[in-house]
Amino acid sequence: MASYKPKNILITGAAGFIASHVANRLVRNYPEYKIVVLDKLDYCSNTKNLLPSKLSPNFKFVKGDIESADLVNYLLITESIDTIMHFAAQTHVDNSFGNSFEFTKNNIYGTHVLLEACKVTGQIRRFIHVSTDEVYGETDEDAVVGNHEASQLLPTNPYSATKAGAEMLVMAYGRSYGLPVITTRGNNVYGPNQFPEKLIPKFILLAMRGKTLPIHGDGSNVRSYLYCEDVAEAFEVILHKGEVGRVYNIGTKKERRVIDVARDICKLFSMDPETSIEFVENRPFNDQRYFLDDQRLKNLGWSERTVWEDGLKKTIKWYTQNPDWWGDVTGALLPHPRMLMMPGSTHFDSEDGKETSYDWLDRWFTWSVMRETRYCLRIWKRTLGRSFITQCRYSKYNADPCV
Ligand SMILES: NC(=O)c1ccc[n+]([C@@H]2O[C@H](COP(=O)([O-])OP(=O)(O)OC[C@H]3O[C@@H](n4cnc5c(N)ncnc54)[C@H](O)[C@@H]3O)[C@@H](O)[C@H]2O)c1
Repeated sequence: MASYKPKNILITGAAGFIASHVANRLVRNYPEYKIVVLDKLDYCSNTKNLLPSKLSPNFKFVKGDIESADLVNYLLITESIDTIMHFAAQTHVDNSFGNSFEFTKNNIYGTHVLLEACKVTGQIRRFIHVSTDEVYGETDEDAVVGNHEASQLLPTNPYSATKAGAEMLVMAYGRSYGLPVITTRGNNVYGPNQFPEKLIPKFILLAMRGKTLPIHGDGSNVRSYLYCEDVAEAFEVILHKGEVGRVYNIGTKKERRVIDVARDICKLFSMDPETSIEFVENRPFNDQRYFLDDQRLKNLGWSERTVWEDGLKKTIKWYTQNPDWWGDVTGALLPHPRMLMMPGSTHFDSEDGKETSYDWLDRWFTWSVMRETRYCLRIWKRTLGRSFITQCRYSKYNADPCV
């Protein structure tokens, strides 16, 4: 298959979902490649995802943050990296409605650090940047032609906005410094190893516990789902056959309403959908549909292999066999897990007599402002030095303007 031959590949975010499948696949299929994995082991990751590769001589795991320029430069040089496959990111849309600064830091600044390291070391022959279908924004319900790779980017939520921002930097480093970049934009992925904050594993774990499946809004939103092994194969194809400077959609034409996903899972657990599905408050904005034109990748010889019914059964089997993969994930199974990030948050409605929705909003707002202010202060501190911050503190108490 190969036309491009990598030697030493750095895969970021490979203790997470998709990249673990990609890393395990490349380690298994290409013993002549060295695969170095860099992951900061965030809440959604698990080193167990990489167990199939652990003992392979061509595999190395490094715990660390892509935001650390020193570490990234050090790794590129000492491991003689010639190829980067960049998956690391904050990925949960729902969280991005809570604390979007983390998304900017990891997804945009983190990508920038990697790109700059590529520029400085000057040894990278391929930089594969993993983006998402969400950068296109939502597709019209009646559209028959999917977004193609030259379509306009119109992200609608903080997560997709940071992914689009990162893409702009990747494109700029390709243009300005001749970095050999390839970008992918994929549909939703499902399968083993996915942290259960995402829809399919969340529904499976809730069904395993006999709990109701919460649907944001009315469940009419449409998504396209690809099985993880098919997506890992797509990355294998793009790595070897992808053309520098190109964007590749990784998509499927088969679409599914969220309500139908829930019904399919109910059916496989012999649950009555009428009593097992509950409709909960929608996201601040919930894209109706993402529809991709996937012809360009098909032209490279890739096509999806796993039909939904088989993929879903395999996924359910894996979660049933590994119910404690991440330990206690009760918080992730809440209808809107971002509420966990708020101090003292209980997320009960007023009928329980525990709090009113207004109390919740108030606390959320206070918490967000506090967190964002702390973040700004940290940045200022780094930039302008401690004395400026100290001056601000004193100024605040003396009610003087701080500059
Ligand atoms: N899951 C999907 O359906 C989907 C669809 C399209 C595109 N994508 C993209 O694919 C990539 C992987 O998605 P996923 O769902 O497998 O992610 P995930 O959330 O399962 O894993 C992300 C991994 O990145 C690591 N990470 C995050 N920030 C980091 C940092 N600053 N330094 C080092 N490691 C860091 C985390 O520890 C985690 O292991 C992302 O870029 C995402 O935007 C995902």
